[in-house]
Amino acid sequence: MTVKPADRTGNVQEYYFSQKLAQIDRMRREGSDVINLGIGSPDQPPSQNTISALIEHAKKTTAHGYQSYSGIPALRQAFSDWYEKYFKVNLNPDNEILLLMGSKEGIMHISMAFVNPGDEVLVPDPGYPTYSSVTNLVGGIIRKYDLNEKNGWLPDLEAIEKSDLSRVKLMWVNYPHMPTGVKGSMKLFEKLVAFCKKHNILLCNDNPYSFILNKEYHSLLAVDGAKEIALELNSLSKSHNMAGWRIGMVAGQSEYIKNILKVKSNMDSGMFLAMQMAAVEALNNPESWYNTVNSVYIRRKKIVEEIMELLKCTYDKSQAGLFVWGRIPEDIPDCEPYVENILMKTLVFITPGFIFGKNGERYIRISLCATEEKLKEARNRIASFLIAR
Ligand SMILES: Cc1ncc(COP(=O)(O)O)c(C=O)c1O
Repeated sequence: MTVKPADRTGNVQEYYFSQKLAQIDRMRREGSDVINLGIGSPDQPPSQNTISALIEHAKKTTAHGYQSYSGIPALRQAFSDWYEKYFKVNLNPDNEILLLMGSKEGIMHISMAFVNPGDEVLVPDPGYPTYSSVTNLVGGIIRKYDLNEKNGWLPDLEAIEKSDLSRVKLMWVNYPHMPTGVKGSMKLFEKLVAFCKKHNILLCNDNPYSFILNKEYHSLLAVDGAKEIALELNSLSKSHNMAGWRIGMVAGQSEYIKNILKVKSNMDSGMFLAMQMAAVEALNNPESWYNTVNSVYIRRKKIVEEIMELLKCTYDKSQAGLFVWGRIPEDIPDCEPYVENILMKTLVFITPGFIFGKNGERYIRISLCATEEKLKEARNRIASFLIAR
């Protein structure tokens, strides 16, 4: 290579799954029937009316131009109604909701809008790796805060407060939490809002898992006065089986939203109208739709729990979200080779917890995004492997 990449590329690595999926693709091309239980990409379809709306609007000759930067009013209204109905949060669709191409890009836009080089960012460990990589990309300084089984995977705010917080600008939280499946609560959100107000920290809850194996719909923005310092990301990826569509949003006070839009409007030029009209349909699915989707996950989860038990992992049965998170037995020295060995011997890929941070080192995460048939096949392969050892 003759042209040197920018220094910032030295601060990040290719996303773990980007490399791992390439390896799995290679193995499949070479004839291996790999079962991928790594990634949380829902394999069930969106509701039928969502697909019909996409087709209907795509057929219109007028549907193909650039769209507004913040999302069409009908979609912002639908997000506002959805938040009112399930989270009991009042959001002004005109200026408190910004449409995103998935919540992942929102992590970048929020960081670009609020984090100066040298500012510190509180990031959960374990947690979604993008909070750290984006912090690196914008020149922020990562301050990991520990989550562990002992503290119920909840932040210990007293411990965090013991260190100097004067340079902290932003704090990421994510409840229901990925990868641990802990649900969080309004009590937790109240404490977080008070903590961030006290220290003048922008608090952002990344909330894509509320509708998966969970009936307690909590939003950070439901806390009294939260809008002063809080934002929330949400997404149709997991809740509506639309991960490939890339539809999400950020909600919060209009002044914050304005600044995020300043960044975002320089990066894309709106979302295809037919997709936005289809998203309106999706957000209007009746509550029974979520129940039907979840009934499938409930059956799958039983099989995943059997896999956890075969592997002698300990896990909490009340986890929300698209995964089961389990602790590997103490006699296994290192999780990464353990998972790699399972992949090589059984052609089943499960995610090692270290990719979510050092507190995830003794854990694995198994996805519910595979059919019961595939999960049973994975369970049987792992059982045979364990017998043959
Ligand atoms: C915690 C968390 N946040 C955000 C995302 C990204 O979601 P989206 O598809 O909305 O970009 C994921 C996806 O895996 C996630 O697990």
